[in-house]
Amino acid sequence: YNGDIMALRCPIVSVLGHVDHGKTSLLDRIRTTRVTTREAGGITQHIGASEIPIGTIKKVSKDLLNIFKADLSIPGILVIDTPGHEAFTSLRKRGGALADIAILVVDINEGFKPQTIEAINILKQCKTPFVVAANKLDKISGWNSINGPFITNFNEQKQHPNALTEFEIKLYENVIAPLNELGFEADVFSRVKDTTKTINVIPVSAMTGEGIPDLLIIIAGLAQKFLEQKLGLNVEGYAKGTVLEIKEEKGLGKTIDAIIYDGIAKAGDYIVIGNPDGVITSKVKALLKPKALDEMMDPRDKFKPSKQIVAATGVKISAPDLDMVIAGSPLRIVSKSEIESAKEEIVQEIEDFEITLDDEGIIIKADTMGSLEALATELRKKNVKIKKAEVGEINKKDVIEATSYAMSNPYNGAIIAFNTKVLNDAKVEIEKNDVKLFEDKIIYKLVEDYEDWIKEMEEALK
Ligand code: GTP
Ligand code: NA
Ligand code: MG
Repeated sequence: YNGDIMALRCPIVSVLGHVDHGKTSLLDRIRTTRVTTREAGGITQHIGASEIPIGTIKKVSKDLLNIFKADLSIPGILVIDTPGHEAFTSLRKRGGALADIAILVVDINEGFKPQTIEAINILKQCKTPFVVAANKLDKISGWNSINGPFITNFNEQKQHPNALTEFEIKLYENVIAPLNELGFEADVFSRVKDTTKTINVIPVSAMTGEGIPDLLIIIAGLAQKFLEQKLGLNVEGYAKGTVLEIKEEKGLGKTIDAIIYDGIAKAGDYIVIGNPDGVITSKVKALLKPKALDEMMDPRDKFKPSKQIVAATGVKISAPDLDMVIAGSPLRIVSKSEIESAKEEIVQEIEDFEITLDDEGIIIKADTMGSLEALATELRKKNVKIKKAEVGEINKKDVIEATSYAMSNPYNGAIIAFNTKVLNDAKVEIEKNDVKLFEDKIIYKLVEDYEDWIKEMEEALK
C-alpha cells in the first residue's frame, strides 16, 4: 500500500433483467462456479454478491487491455445478482444508490420483456448508468461461438454471412430499437464513440464464455470513470450495509453475511442492526472476508479475519447475540461513541421500509424482509389486501387469525408462505379449519396460485 495513492472504493455492479435471460449464468461464467444449478426452479430469489479482483479482470481481458487502453486502478468490482427488480428496490431503499453501474441482461433472441423495461425504469429513476449484455449469442443459427473476446470472434464470423445477418437483425430489432424507443442511443461497444451519450451493448454468451472479456473490461472502465466523478477517491465514515443471510458456522455460532455499501469497519467496532421489534446492538468479534471469486453464500467458503474492511464489499460478521437478526435488515458498524446516532439512522430506515397493512385481508409470511416486501409488492399489483405481514415460520397463531379473518370474508382465509417452514401445530390447525395455505419458493407462482384459488371460489359462489 502506497500512502500517497488514495484507494478507490470498489464499485458495486448490479445485474438486472428479465427472468431466465441469463443473469446468474453470466455471473457463474465469471466466477466459474455453478450457482444456477442449485437454485429452486432456477430462479434467483436472494441477492448474492461476488467480488471480482482487478487481477482477475486484467487476466481474463488481457487481449483487450491494449485496445481499450484501460488504466484500471479500482481494486476490483463487487457484483450483485438480482432476482428481478423487487429485491433490488428494497436494497436500494436502504442503501440509497447502491449500484454504481448496472449490467442489463437481455436475451438477444427474445428481446425486451416486461422486467427488462421495469429494470430500465429503476435505473432511470436512480440515475444509474448501465451497459447491456446481449446474451445467448450462441443461439444465433450458424454463429460459431467460442470462449474469448467478442471483437476477435466477430471477425471470424465473416465465413458465416447468414449468421452475421441474423446477428445484426436480432441486435437491432431486439436490443437497439427498443432502447431507442425508450430514449436511449445504443450500439455495439466497439462502434461506440462517446460513452457518455451512447449505451454500450456487449454481445455475450454465458454458455460459451464469448464476450466475457469485453464485458468485464467495459464495466470496470466505466465504473471507474463514474466513480471518480461521483465519489471522489476515498472511502470515509462508518460502515453502512445490509444483512444478506444469517448462518450458523462451526466454532463461530450465528454469523451474519452482509454487504457493506459505504464506509469502513474495524474489528472491535460495534454492530447496530435493525429489527421489526427495535434495534440490536452487539460487539463485533471478527470481520471475516470470503475468498475472492467465491460466491458469498456458498457453504464451502473459507474465511479469513480482517482488521479492517472497506466498502463496497461482502463480509461475514461474527458477534454475540445475533439470534433475533433478520435477513434484509439494515446495519451499521460503528465505534462506541457513534452507537446512538447509528441507532437513530436505523430506526428511520426501518420506518421507511415497513409494509402498510390493510384493515382486512390475508396473512403473508416470508423468510427475509426483502422477500416479504417483494411478495407484498407483487400481491398489491393484483389488488390483494394484506392484513398481516411477517418474517418467520407459519405458526398456530397465524392459522387461528386467518380462521377469524375468513369468518367475515372467505377470501381472507388464506396464508401465503414464501420460502418459510410451516410448524407442525400450524399444520394440525389448518386440517381443522377452513384456511387455505399457499407455499412456494417462487413468488410469481404464489401470486398465480392465489389468483386461481380466488377464481375457483368465485365460480363456486355463483
Ligand atoms: P432469474 O434469476 O430467474 O431472473 O434468471 P436468470 O436471468 O438468472 O437466468 P439463468 O442464469 O438462471 O438462466 C436461465 C436459463 O438460460 C438456464 O437454463 C441457462 O442455462 C440458460 N442460459 C443462460 N445463458 C445462456 C447462454 O448464453 N446461452 C444459452 N444457450 N443458454 C443460456
Ligand atoms: Na432463471
Ligand atoms: Mg438468476
